[in-house]
Amino acid sequence: MKHSTIEKSIPLMSILTLVMVLIGGIVEIVPLFFIKSTIEKVEGMRPYTPLELRGQDIYVREGCYNCHSQMIRPFRDEQERYGHYSLAAESMYDHPFQWGSKRTGPDLARVGGKYSNLWHQAHMKNPRDVVPESVMPAYPWLAENDLDYGNIKKRMEVLQLVGVPYSQEQIDNAVEDLKAQAIPDSDSDGLLARYDEKVPLEDFDGEPARITELDAMVAYLQILGTMVDFSSYQAQAR
Ligand code: HEC
Repeated sequence: MKHSTIEKSIPLMSILTLVMVLIGGIVEIVPLFFIKSTIEKVEGMRPYTPLELRGQDIYVREGCYNCHSQMIRPFRDEQERYGHYSLAAESMYDHPFQWGSKRTGPDLARVGGKYSNLWHQAHMKNPRDVVPESVMPAYPWLAENDLDYGNIKKRMEVLQLVGVPYSQEQIDNAVEDLKAQAIPDSDSDGLLARYDEKVPLEDFDGEPARITELDAMVAYLQILGTMVDFSSYQAQAR
């Protein structure tokens, strides 16, 4: 059949286009049914602690995702700048996921541990104090607002419903665990046993006596990209 015949007949052209699109779709989708899991298992991933979880809520509330992505793509320039490319498993407990679609600021997927808490405190209060050419807005109220954690158990229960493996014990102890992480020198044995012994216990906001929104925000930022132990990680051959 001559190609011009197809081009001159709209119904024929539409049907053949549809057939092409269907073949493309099948080729992309069918293999997903035959692999065991679309998310590779990795060592070290755990659900957020209650304090980190509230930090993520505030990250979403303040719209940080409008300028920051949390997904390092598997390209050399990205990996030189940000570190190992992001794994699907690293965002499997994020609801909603924070991959983002725009980078006015840098990717934050591995910002955990890159700066001190002190740096984050100054940066959140006024980014220009630490990065003079920064165009990031200031968020001074985070340090002023007391953290509202009244519904933390409900939040964890809802996440549990959508598949985050919070145990009943973690939910029952949410408020205690939140305080144990935010207030220095408190009894944190329970928190460490329930989550991971590597959970950072620090004075995130520079005000030991209070639990502020900045505590939650910095606790969240400091854990980003730090959970997976890449020395033990070996990409699976596909
Ligand atoms: C209008 C865009 C914009 C918004 C909104 C924004 N940022 Fe930024 N952010 C930037 C820019 C630009 C930089 C780079 C300059 C700097 O470090 O301040 C940056 C840098 C950062 C860095 C340092 C990253 C690094 O690797 O050096 C962190 C952490 C950060 N932002 C967190 C946040 C958080 C948390 C929020 C929400 C409360 C937020 N940002 C909202 C634009 C933005």
